[in-house]
Amino acid sequence: MTRALLLAVALMSTPALAEEAKGNPAEGRIKAYTCTGCHGVTGWRNAYPNYSVPRIAGQNYDYVVAALTGYRNGDRAHPTMRAQGESLSDADIRDIAAYLSSLDTAAK
Ligand code: HEC
Repeated sequence: MTRALLLAVALMSTPALAEEAKGNPAEGRIKAYTCTGCHGVTGWRNAYPNYSVPRIAGQNYDYVVAALTGYRNGDRAHPTMRAQGESLSDADIRDIAAYLSSLDTAAK
């Protein structure tokens, strides 16, 4: 195989560019791992103490991006989530949003 052909094959096996721009749900699943401590396995209860947190599983992609960006830059004032947001890059936020919005909560 020529170099060009190898490159073409490699490009075809990577996710579509549009999907990249929207974030990678597989990456997001890993990055959202710490979130489940508060947002719970099913996405809306803190594990312990048992208090309500917003349900984020299945949440709309753009909403999650806006919310996390808001916490990060201080537009949303909640101190706990601000600390979470500050540790996230733009790519992290897109990946997490892609993952959360991919979850099907209809059965829960
Ligand atoms: C220490 C507990 C805790 C952790 C860890 C945590 N959250 Fe939260 N989260 C909260 C609470 C409490 C709120 C509600 C804040 C408010 O009222 O603004 C919230 C709100 C949110 C919202 C807004 C929901 C809405 O309906 O407006 C999103 C999105 C969110 N969290 C995502 C995440 C993600 C993603 C992570 C992991 C990177 C994470 N959270 C980690 C406690 C937590």
